[in-house]
Amino acid sequence: MNIIFLGPPGAGKGTQAQVICQKLGIPQISTGDMLRAAISAQTETGLKAKAYMDKGQLVPDEVVIDIVRERLTKEDCKPGYILDGFPRTVEQAKALATFAKIDAAVNLDVADEVLVARLSGRRVCPLCGAPYHVDRLNGSKICKVDATPLIQRDDDKPETVLNRLQVYHQKTAPLIDYYAGEGILCNITGSGSPEEISAEIIKTLEAIA
Ligand code: AP5
Repeated sequence: MNIIFLGPPGAGKGTQAQVICQKLGIPQISTGDMLRAAISAQTETGLKAKAYMDKGQLVPDEVVIDIVRERLTKEDCKPGYILDGFPRTVEQAKALATFAKIDAAVNLDVADEVLVARLSGRRVCPLCGAPYHVDRLNGSKICKVDATPLIQRDDDKPETVLNRLQVYHQKTAPLIDYYAGEGILCNITGSGSPEEISAEIIKTLEAIA
């Protein structure tokens, strides 16, 4: 299946995409992770993206559309994939429809106050991108996958988080209606435990497979 994960910053898209991709044996395609990798590698795309990301703004549509179009041509995408964080505007969704057929748009619904608490306590692995929360790390500061020391993302600082939420409501939330109109929207309450939410997503995807 070709699946989109929609939802505001901190909704748990990355957390859930990692689990579901592992279960289905398909790649997780995170535009945020790809852009952060481009920034680390100091590529032209990375240099262009950094100024937007630091402020919590969206990177211009044409930059991300090109990255995703190219990524979806890779062999590992043949059995399916999860797009985590793309599309994020109606323009991106329309462009995606010209080069991919999407089977389900899973929307993780979480209240803004919960999102702020999640993002301020988030720590990530700079190597593999795995997300953690300080409340569930039991004092550990390293990634469970590769033992790399965890870091706080620059855009998880409080003032940037509020800006990202505003941008989400303005530019990304309209995609909920867009995919409802396409008949492929699956709404999931994103406020239970990560395990409960994974089970709900799997049940929903199995019902439409
Ligand atoms: P991106 O990296 O995609 O960030 P985001 O969408 O803002 O989403 P997050 O990664 O912040 O949250 P998430 O939903 O993945 O939550 P997570 O699982 O980590 O994008 C960053 C930037 O890149 C954007 O601002 C933009 O500039 C640019 N960009 C990316 N894609 C773009 C595009 N298509 N177009 C234009 N620009 C683009 O969970 C968050 C925290 O909560 C973690 O600590 C986690 O452990 C915890 N948690 C998760 N689930 C639960 C739960 N059920 N209960 C309690 N805690 C939980």
